[in-house]
Amino acid sequence: MKVTVVGAGAVGASCAEYIAIKNFASEVVLLDIKEGYAEGKAMDLMQCASLNGFDTKITGVTNDYSKTAGSDIAVITSGIPRKPGMTREELIGINAGIVKTVSASLIEHSPNVIMIVVSNPMDTMTYLVHKTTSLPKNKIIGMGGALDSARFKYRLAEAMEAPISDIDGMVIGGHSDKGMVPLSSHATRNSINVSEYLSEDRLQQVVEATKVGGATLTKLLGTSAWYAPGAAVSGLVQAIACDQKKMFPCSTYLEGEYGLNDICIGVPVILGKNGIEKIVDVPLSDAEKAKMQESATGVSKTNGLLDL
Ligand code: 2OP
Repeated sequence: MKVTVVGAGAVGASCAEYIAIKNFASEVVLLDIKEGYAEGKAMDLMQCASLNGFDTKITGVTNDYSKTAGSDIAVITSGIPRKPGMTREELIGINAGIVKTVSASLIEHSPNVIMIVVSNPMDTMTYLVHKTTSLPKNKIIGMGGALDSARFKYRLAEAMEAPISDIDGMVIGGHSDKGMVPLSSHATRNSINVSEYLSEDRLQQVVEATKVGGATLTKLLGTSAWYAPGAAVSGLVQAIACDQKKMFPCSTYLEGEYGLNDICIGVPVILGKNGIEKIVDVPLSDAEKAKMQESATGVSKTNGLLDL
């Protein structure tokens, strides 16, 4: 199993590290445009192999896509991260050109690749890949909901003073500060709905904290987060590589599902060896349905900024 990660910045390098430590891939190629940067990160990561007990071979390359040839899965993290006070949507001007070029270069050397898009604004970047490449829609996956769901579970556990392993919860919709839809109606602590433990007001506080989870960290760090994004991507890669049939909220191209068309937005999907193997239709409350429609309106508006 060969995985390429484009972008050796914090998110890409964290993603490569988590994939290596999980030891399910034979090779990870880390690619960056900055001379020697991916090579250095790869070498540093490989020097963890004996310490962290993995046999994955991590190699770094500077902008040489021939070294990515035959990749089964490719992750696009390249582009600029946001600064404090910025929205993800403000990155489109620079990141759209990068993602378009990177996706074309990856497919040139790995025509059957399954592509995971991380670069922001992620839903729109996923839509861009769908519109500008020949990859089938099941092989184009946007990573946002897996990260947002992890933040939702973190905030739920914090509110209930519970271990995170007790908590289950999912966030669908757009990966944007205003567009996320945490599914409170389905969130549980050990199969018991969280509404048994949290007041409506406290649950709303959890929802709001989840939606700005990325911005909260950007304000603290001065740049976008990387550990949880990297870990979230590695979970999607593992589900595909190991054919796990796991359910994740991922951004995918919709053709009528959830009443939406010609958009990439986060919905529950089953991930396996063929990428997105099924879009799962989960029951939504009327409020959640309305929020999903509102979220889609926002994503479509950002899509309209693309020069397709
Ligand atoms: C985040 O929410 C980078 O969009 C990513 O942290």
